[in-house]
Amino acid sequence: MSELQYNNTDNLTLSQIVRDDFHAAKVLEKYHLDFCCKGNRLFGEACKEKGLSSNEILAEIENQKSAIKNGIKFDQWELDFLVEYIINSHHKYIKENGPGIGAHIEKVAIVHGKNHPETIDIAKLYSIIHKDLKQHLMKEEEILFPYIKYLVKVKTGNAPLETPYFRTIANPIKMIEAEHQSAGDIFEQIRNITNNYAIPEDACNTYRLSYNELNEFELDLHQHVHLENNILFPKAIELEKKLFSKDM
Ligand SMILES: [Fe+2]
Repeated sequence: MSELQYNNTDNLTLSQIVRDDFHAAKVLEKYHLDFCCKGNRLFGEACKEKGLSSNEILAEIENQKSAIKNGIKFDQWELDFLVEYIINSHHKYIKENGPGIGAHIEKVAIVHGKNHPETIDIAKLYSIIHKDLKQHLMKEEEILFPYIKYLVKVKTGNAPLETPYFRTIANPIKMIEAEHQSAGDIFEQIRNITNNYAIPEDACNTYRLSYNELNEFELDLHQHVHLENNILFPKAIELEKKLFSKDM
């Protein structure tokens, strides 16, 4: 079974994607991307028509695959456990790899910027996204995630219910989701500029490495955002509602 690759997946048909890995079917069905009767349509085009980001759908497929392979059911985990998982896997990944990727792409921009001016733009975009993400992780780890863990404590009777200073979790989540969106937009720009991380013939090893690293970073970010936007946040909103409605 071949692994789905980000590069050029937009040019695969919907049925090819499911043929590659049947786990993709569940995700395509969820977004009404018909891989049976209209299976010969290109994945990228079908997503575009429905106003969907093909990268985000792919990230969801990847999550689905790794979760199934490892027997993980993220949506059945307790929220405090999911929070710890996100911090220890995805946040850790950004903290450990973010600075090195920045150093590599900056070096590439200095050495190859003359022949490949796009590398200068990429270095600039990456430095923006990396700086933004550092702030973003801090907000999650210092404000939003502790509150989610607190909600779990209230649920299990280990803390009294109190209204947070931000009134409802929906408020910080709104801000965090907007930041996810802008991070995704910047990476989409990088993907477009690099033509899906296509490595030019005259690329040196650092050039090659930095494009591969950026590609992997984007994939990890999509999986990370998927866990938060689609599982953690809706469940936390629901839990808060339930706790406060009981209290009334
Ligand atoms: Fe996060």
